[in-house]
Amino acid sequence: MARRVAVANNKGGVGKTTTTVRLAEALAKAGRRVLVVDLDPQGNASRRLGWGFDPDEPQLTISEAIQADQEGVASQVIQPIGWDPETAEYATRMALCPARLELENRMAEAGVAGAWRRLAKALSGADDGFDYTLIDCPPSLFHLTQLGFAAADRVLVVTEPEYDSVEAAVRVRDFVAARAADLANPDLALVGVVVNAMQNLASHADQRDSVREVFGDLVWDPIVRHRSLLVDADGDELPLTEVRGEKAPEVRATYELLAQRFVKAVG
Ligand SMILES: Nc1ncnc2c1ncn2[C@@H]1O[C@H](COP(=O)(O)OP(=O)(O)OP(=O)(O)O)[C@@H](O)[C@H]1O
Ligand SMILES: [Mg+2]
Repeated sequence: MARRVAVANNKGGVGKTTTTVRLAEALAKAGRRVLVVDLDPQGNASRRLGWGFDPDEPQLTISEAIQADQEGVASQVIQPIGWDPETAEYATRMALCPARLELENRMAEAGVAGAWRRLAKALSGADDGFDYTLIDCPPSLFHLTQLGFAAADRVLVVTEPEYDSVEAAVRVRDFVAARAADLANPDLALVGVVVNAMQNLASHADQRDSVREVFGDLVWDPIVRHRSLLVDADGDELPLTEVRGEKAPEVRATYELLAQRFVKAVG
């Protein structure tokens, strides 16, 4: 059975999706079978993994799976990712439950009895063939993220070393502590904190230190540096194996080490 990890922060643009995609990639490279569930109506993870919606032959997405409210129904929306297995053979060990803007419509179901359990229900049995399921959450802590938290075994927080981002990471920690039982998932806990997009700034060093103070051993090493090649790879929908440049080996090594940390922490 897949271990499910929701990737979250209550602030936008801190690198949740980049971390989800690159960790999934590094885990697959290390031989693991990984399912990415895109739980953000922006659909950034889906696009960066090379998936596109085809209006002529509309594919089912995670939105329809949640709406269906049926045990195991996510198996009907699991699709191959779009990266070329010729250049990244490990792409065959990755799969996707894609999202598109349509997913916003699930927000209206927040008040429907039991709706918060619908992703857990949809994934039940559907992700048994994977080692890990990574759930890329939107920046809010409202209904969509709660669907993710109700379905997950663990929460991985991603933060930039900046004040608002760290404060938002603390809100995630407190939310999980306060609400896990309400989501019928009392064992849900933080599994780690990834510090992302670190630059050589005094303020970043200060905030990195305060992340360590607040989260202690939960902070994963290595810290991810700010690297423009990640923006390019995300923009061009590329696996890191296809990225060239002086810093490419460093970035690949960073995510390989984080994947090792992931396996150790998540089990
Ligand atoms: N370490 C990094 N160095 C440089 N750019 C990065 C890094 N991590 C992420 N980025 C870039 O920053 C932007 C925001 O990242 P991303 O979309 O992953 O954040 P997010 O937290 O998922 O945002 P949202 O809240 O909108 O879902 C993207 O353009 C991404 O390529
Ligand atoms: Mg995102």
